[in-house]
Amino acid sequence: MKNKLILAIDGPAAAGKSTVAKLVAKKLNITYIDTGAMYRAFTLFVMQKGIDPQHQSACEALIPQVKILLAPTGEVYLNGIDVSKDIRDPKVSAQVSYIASYKAIRLALVDLQRHMAGNQSVVMDGRDIGTYVLPEANIKIFQIASVETRAVRRYEENLSKGIACTLESVEEDLRHRDYIDSHRDFAPLKPANDSILIDTSFMSVQEVVERILEIVHKKVGLIHA
Ligand code: CDP
Repeated sequence: MKNKLILAIDGPAAAGKSTVAKLVAKKLNITYIDTGAMYRAFTLFVMQKGIDPQHQSACEALIPQVKILLAPTGEVYLNGIDVSKDIRDPKVSAQVSYIASYKAIRLALVDLQRHMAGNQSVVMDGRDIGTYVLPEANIKIFQIASVETRAVRRYEENLSKGIACTLESVEEDLRHRDYIDSHRDFAPLKPANDSILIDTSFMSVQEVVERILEIVHKKVGLIHA
Protein backbone atom coordinates (compact mmCIF):
# COMPACT_ATOMS: atom_id res chain seq x y z
CA MET A 1 0.00 0.00 0.00
CA LYS A 2 1.27 3.49 -0.82
CA ASN A 3 1.35 6.10 1.95
CA LYS A 4 1.66 3.47 4.65
CA LEU A 5 2.40 4.90 8.10
CA ILE A 6 4.42 2.81 10.53
CA LEU A 7 4.81 4.40 13.92
CA ALA A 8 7.07 2.56 16.38
CA ILE A 9 6.93 3.48 20.07
CA ASP A 10 9.58 1.92 22.28
CA GLY A 11 10.78 2.56 25.79
CA PRO A 12 11.17 1.17 29.30
CA ALA A 13 8.44 -0.40 31.43
CA ALA A 14 5.41 1.69 32.33
CA ALA A 15 6.56 4.75 30.38
CA GLY A 16 2.97 5.13 29.23
CA LYS A 17 3.58 3.75 25.75
CA SER A 18 0.42 1.70 25.41
CA THR A 19 -1.90 4.43 26.74
CA VAL A 20 -0.44 6.92 24.28
CA ALA A 21 -0.15 4.44 21.39
CA LYS A 22 -3.82 3.48 21.72
CA LEU A 23 -4.95 7.11 21.61
CA VAL A 24 -2.67 8.01 18.70
CA ALA A 25 -3.89 4.99 16.72
CA LYS A 26 -7.50 5.95 17.39
CA LYS A 27 -6.90 9.52 16.32
CA LEU A 28 -5.20 8.39 13.09
CA ASN A 29 -7.77 5.63 12.61
CA ILE A 30 -5.10 2.95 12.21
CA THR A 31 -4.37 -0.38 13.93
CA TYR A 32 -2.63 -0.53 17.32
CA ILE A 33 -0.47 -3.55 18.18
CA ASP A 34 0.62 -4.11 21.79
CA THR A 35 3.63 -6.43 21.55
CA GLY A 36 4.17 -6.51 25.33
CA ALA A 37 0.78 -8.22 25.67
CA MET A 38 2.14 -11.09 23.55
CA TYR A 39 5.19 -11.67 25.79
CA ARG A 40 2.88 -11.46 28.79
CA ALA A 41 0.46 -14.03 27.29
CA PHE A 42 3.33 -16.43 26.58
CA THR A 43 4.57 -15.98 30.16
CA LEU A 44 1.10 -16.71 31.54
CA PHE A 45 1.03 -19.97 29.56
CA VAL A 46 4.44 -20.99 30.94
CA MET A 47 3.18 -20.32 34.47
CA GLN A 48 -0.09 -22.17 33.89
CA LYS A 49 1.94 -25.19 32.76
CA GLY A 50 3.93 -25.06 35.99
CA ILE A 51 7.21 -24.55 34.12
CA ASP A 52 10.02 -22.49 35.60
CA PRO A 53 10.24 -19.26 33.52
CA GLN A 54 14.01 -19.33 33.99
CA HIS A 55 14.26 -22.75 32.32
CA GLN A 56 14.89 -21.59 28.76
CA SER A 57 14.60 -24.84 26.79
CA ALA A 58 11.44 -25.93 28.64
CA CYS A 59 9.84 -22.56 27.87
CA GLU A 60 10.92 -22.62 24.24
CA ALA A 61 9.51 -26.13 23.85
CA LEU A 62 6.04 -24.66 24.43
CA ILE A 63 6.13 -22.48 21.30
CA PRO A 64 3.98 -24.83 19.15
CA GLN A 65 1.29 -24.92 21.86
CA VAL A 66 0.83 -21.17 22.11
CA LYS A 67 -1.68 -19.30 19.95
CA ILE A 68 -1.97 -15.61 20.72
CA LEU A 69 -4.54 -13.30 19.22
CA LEU A 70 -4.96 -9.57 19.73
CA ALA A 71 -8.55 -8.59 19.02
CA PRO A 72 -9.13 -5.24 17.25
CA THR A 73 -11.16 -4.28 20.32
CA GLY A 74 -8.08 -4.71 22.54
CA GLU A 75 -8.68 -8.08 24.20
CA VAL A 76 -5.82 -10.57 24.33
CA TYR A 77 -6.61 -14.23 23.67
CA LEU A 78 -4.40 -17.14 24.66
CA ASN A 79 -5.46 -20.37 22.95
CA GLY A 80 -8.97 -18.98 22.54
CA ILE A 81 -9.36 -17.70 26.11
CA ASP A 82 -9.57 -14.01 27.00
CA VAL A 83 -6.56 -13.38 29.29
CA SER A 84 -6.56 -9.56 29.05
CA LYS A 85 -6.77 -9.15 32.81
CA ASP A 86 -4.60 -12.11 33.87
CA ILE A 87 -1.58 -10.95 31.85
CA ARG A 88 -1.38 -7.73 33.91
CA ASP A 89 -0.95 -9.64 37.18
CA PRO A 90 2.29 -8.59 38.97
CA LYS A 91 3.24 -12.30 39.08
CA VAL A 92 3.34 -12.28 35.28
CA SER A 93 5.22 -8.94 35.22
CA ALA A 94 7.86 -10.43 37.53
CA GLN A 95 8.65 -13.25 35.06
CA VAL A 96 7.97 -11.79 31.62
CA SER A 97 11.46 -10.40 31.00
CA TYR A 98 13.00 -13.87 31.32
CA ILE A 99 10.62 -15.21 28.68
CA ALA A 100 11.25 -12.16 26.47
CA SER A 101 15.00 -12.81 26.57
CA TYR A 102 14.70 -16.22 24.84
CA LYS A 103 15.57 -15.88 21.18
CA ALA A 104 13.32 -18.63 19.83
CA ILE A 105 10.31 -17.16 21.61
CA ARG A 106 11.14 -13.67 20.36
CA LEU A 107 11.50 -14.93 16.80
CA ALA A 108 8.09 -16.62 16.97
CA LEU A 109 6.39 -13.54 18.39
CA VAL A 110 8.20 -11.13 16.06
CA ASP A 111 6.91 -13.23 13.14
CA LEU A 112 3.40 -12.79 14.45
CA GLN A 113 3.95 -9.04 14.99
CA ARG A 114 5.20 -8.52 11.44
CA HIS A 115 2.37 -10.62 10.08
CA MET A 116 -0.18 -8.59 12.04
CA ALA A 117 1.29 -5.32 10.81
CA GLY A 118 1.03 -6.74 7.29
CA ASN A 119 0.50 -4.14 4.67
CA GLN A 120 -1.45 -1.61 6.66
CA SER A 121 -0.68 1.50 8.69
CA VAL A 122 0.05 0.69 12.32
CA VAL A 123 1.16 2.00 15.67
CA MET A 124 3.20 -0.72 17.39
CA ASP A 125 4.66 -0.42 20.87
CA GLY A 126 7.33 -2.46 22.62
CA ARG A 127 11.07 -2.52 23.23
CA ASP A 128 12.60 -3.44 19.86
CA ILE A 129 10.05 -2.21 17.33
CA GLY A 130 12.21 0.54 15.83
CA THR A 131 15.45 -1.43 16.08
CA TYR A 132 14.37 -4.92 15.07
CA VAL A 133 10.69 -5.65 14.37
CA LEU A 134 9.90 -2.80 11.97
CA PRO A 135 13.19 -0.96 11.30
CA GLU A 136 11.57 0.56 8.21
CA ALA A 137 9.13 2.53 10.44
CA ASN A 138 8.53 6.09 9.20
CA ILE A 139 8.59 7.42 12.74
CA LYS A 140 10.31 5.99 15.80
CA ILE A 141 9.54 7.35 19.23
CA PHE A 142 11.52 6.40 22.33
CA GLN A 143 9.37 7.29 25.29
CA ILE A 144 10.99 7.61 28.69
CA ALA A 145 10.22 8.93 32.19
CA SER A 146 12.05 8.73 35.48
CA VAL A 147 11.65 5.41 37.26
CA GLU A 148 9.95 7.16 40.20
CA THR A 149 7.35 8.71 37.90
CA ARG A 150 6.77 5.44 36.10
CA ALA A 151 6.35 3.60 39.40
CA VAL A 152 3.71 6.05 40.63
CA ARG A 153 1.83 5.82 37.33
CA ARG A 154 1.81 2.02 37.29
CA TYR A 155 0.93 1.87 40.99
CA GLU A 156 -2.08 4.13 40.45
CA GLU A 157 -3.10 2.21 37.34
CA ASN A 158 -2.94 -1.06 39.28
CA LEU A 159 -5.02 0.36 42.13
CA SER A 160 -7.68 1.58 39.71
CA LYS A 161 -7.84 -1.93 38.21
CA GLY A 162 -8.00 -3.59 41.63
CA ILE A 163 -4.52 -5.15 41.27
CA ALA A 164 -2.92 -5.44 44.72
CA CYS A 165 0.64 -4.04 45.00
CA THR A 166 2.80 -1.53 46.85
CA LEU A 167 4.64 1.42 45.34
CA GLU A 168 7.94 -0.18 46.39
CA SER A 169 7.14 -3.52 44.74
CA VAL A 170 6.12 -1.77 41.52
CA GLU A 171 9.34 0.27 41.38
CA GLU A 172 11.40 -2.83 42.09
CA ASP A 173 9.62 -4.69 39.25
CA LEU A 174 10.25 -1.85 36.77
CA ARG A 175 13.96 -1.67 37.64
CA HIS A 176 14.29 -5.45 37.41
CA ARG A 177 12.58 -5.65 33.99
CA ASP A 178 14.40 -2.64 32.55
CA TYR A 179 17.71 -4.22 33.55
CA ILE A 180 16.98 -7.59 31.93
CA ASP A 181 15.31 -5.98 28.87
CA SER A 182 18.26 -3.72 28.17
CA HIS A 183 20.97 -6.31 28.86
CA ARG A 184 19.69 -9.29 26.86
CA ASP A 185 21.77 -10.36 23.85
CA PHE A 186 19.05 -10.46 21.24
CA ALA A 187 17.04 -7.32 20.34
CA PRO A 188 17.53 -5.49 23.64
CA LEU A 189 15.68 -2.39 24.76
CA LYS A 190 17.52 0.60 23.28
CA PRO A 191 16.63 3.63 21.19
CA ALA A 192 17.01 3.27 17.44
CA ASN A 193 19.60 5.68 16.01
CA ASP A 194 16.87 7.52 14.17
CA SER A 195 14.40 7.65 17.07
CA ILE A 196 12.91 10.76 18.63
CA LEU A 197 13.22 10.85 22.40
CA ILE A 198 10.23 12.04 24.42
CA ASP A 199 10.69 12.42 28.16
CA THR A 200 7.16 12.25 29.57
CA SER A 201 8.16 12.76 33.23
CA PHE A 202 6.41 16.11 33.34
CA MET A 203 3.91 15.66 30.53
CA SER A 204 0.26 14.65 30.64
CA VAL A 205 -1.01 11.82 28.43
CA GLN A 206 -2.77 14.37 26.24
CA GLU A 207 0.43 16.39 25.82
CA VAL A 208 2.36 13.31 24.72
CA VAL A 209 -0.37 12.33 22.27
CA GLU A 210 -0.37 15.83 20.79
CA ARG A 211 3.41 15.88 20.53
CA ILE A 212 3.40 12.58 18.63
CA LEU A 213 0.57 13.70 16.32
CA GLU A 214 2.56 16.86 15.62
CA ILE A 215 5.60 14.75 14.69
CA VAL A 216 3.44 12.54 12.47
CA HIS A 217 1.93 15.49 10.64
CA LYS A 218 5.26 17.22 10.23
CA LYS A 219 7.11 14.17 9.05
CA VAL A 220 4.61 12.47 6.80
CA GLY A 221 2.34 15.37 5.96
CA LEU A 222 -0.71 14.14 4.17
CA ILE A 223 -0.17 10.47 4.76
CA HIS A 224 -3.38 8.47 4.76
CA ALA A 225 -4.08 5.21 6.53
O1 CDP B 1 3.29 -2.20 30.00
P1 CDP B 1 4.68 -2.46 30.51
O2 CDP B 1 5.57 -1.31 30.18
O3 CDP B 1 4.71 -2.89 31.92
O4 CDP B 1 5.29 -3.69 29.73
P2 CDP B 1 4.82 -4.39 28.40
O5 CDP B 1 4.94 -3.45 27.24
O6 CDP B 1 3.51 -5.04 28.63
O7 CDP B 1 5.97 -5.50 28.20
C1 CDP B 1 6.15 -6.52 29.15
C2 CDP B 1 7.52 -7.13 28.95
O8 CDP B 1 7.56 -7.77 27.68
C3 CDP B 1 8.71 -6.18 28.93
O9 CDP B 1 9.22 -5.90 30.22
C4 CDP B 1 9.72 -6.95 28.09
O10 CDP B 1 10.41 -7.90 28.86
C5 CDP B 1 8.85 -7.68 27.10
N1 CDP B 1 8.77 -7.04 25.78
C6 CDP B 1 9.82 -7.21 24.92
O11 CDP B 1 10.83 -7.80 25.27
N2 CDP B 1 9.73 -6.74 23.64
C7 CDP B 1 8.65 -6.09 23.23
N3 CDP B 1 8.59 -5.67 21.96
C8 CDP B 1 7.58 -5.86 24.12
C9 CDP B 1 7.68 -6.33 25.40
